[in-house]
Amino acid sequence: MRELLAKGYRAKKRPSGHDISDKFGIDNGAAIPPNLIAIPNTESNSFYLRYCEEKGFKPHPARYPAGLPEYFIRMLTEPGDFVIDPFAGSCVTGEVCERTGRRWTCVELLRDYCEAALGRFVRDPEETARPVVDPANPSNYYRLPHPGILWNGDPGEPLPSDGGKSRRPKRAGADIPKSREERGVSIHRDGTPPLSAASSADERGT
Ligand SMILES: C[S@@+](CC[C@H](N)C(=O)[O-])C[C@H]1O[C@@H](n2cnc3c(N)ncnc32)[C@H](O)[C@@H]1O
Repeated sequence: MRELLAKGYRAKKRPSGHDISDKFGIDNGAAIPPNLIAIPNTESNSFYLRYCEEKGFKPHPARYPAGLPEYFIRMLTEPGDFVIDPFAGSCVTGEVCERTGRRWTCVELLRDYCEAALGRFVRDPEETARPVVDPANPSNYYRLPHPGILWNGDPGEPLPSDGGKSRRPKRAGADIPKSREERGVSIHRDGTPPLSAASSADERGT
């Protein structure tokens, strides 16, 4: 994109039929981020949690960080628009809507979660959790590994010719074997010879 911006883009109809206007060449300063959203789930929900404790509610176990709904709400709606969250949980969507000036409705199956969610609205929404906004802080940026560096060097087992149909299912809770030796030991415990023994027998032709 940087190269395109530097060289300039000639607006034209693409072979696909897409009509790319001259707006394509506008430098938005990377305003459209890549399609990975990385948000640590570490924000303080102390107010909500305290409310739950005081009222005897179990806090919602799968709360999203406010930055997640906030990203989509800001991208897809204008202040004053109406937002609906049909799976509201702890109603973080409602909290973000209050803070960003959207009208909203949250729907939640479990009454206790709804009642606990009230804990998000008993204080000024301006005081609620805010996403990280300091672009100068290097810890607000993340790096992605090239997939190649995720390989541990173990060539793994060859793909069976039957696609794995005859492979015995792993026992629940069994350790994932780390090396060829360990794989041999775990197979032996299931009643079949260890891989090392089996391969030595193969080598000997027995
Ligand atoms: C992953 S949680 C949502 C968490 C929420 N985004 C938050 O940050 O607190 C999904 C919620 O959807 C609710 N749910 C599941 N089925 C539902 C249904 N048919 N109607 C309304 N809520 C439903 C569950 O009870 C659960 O609380």
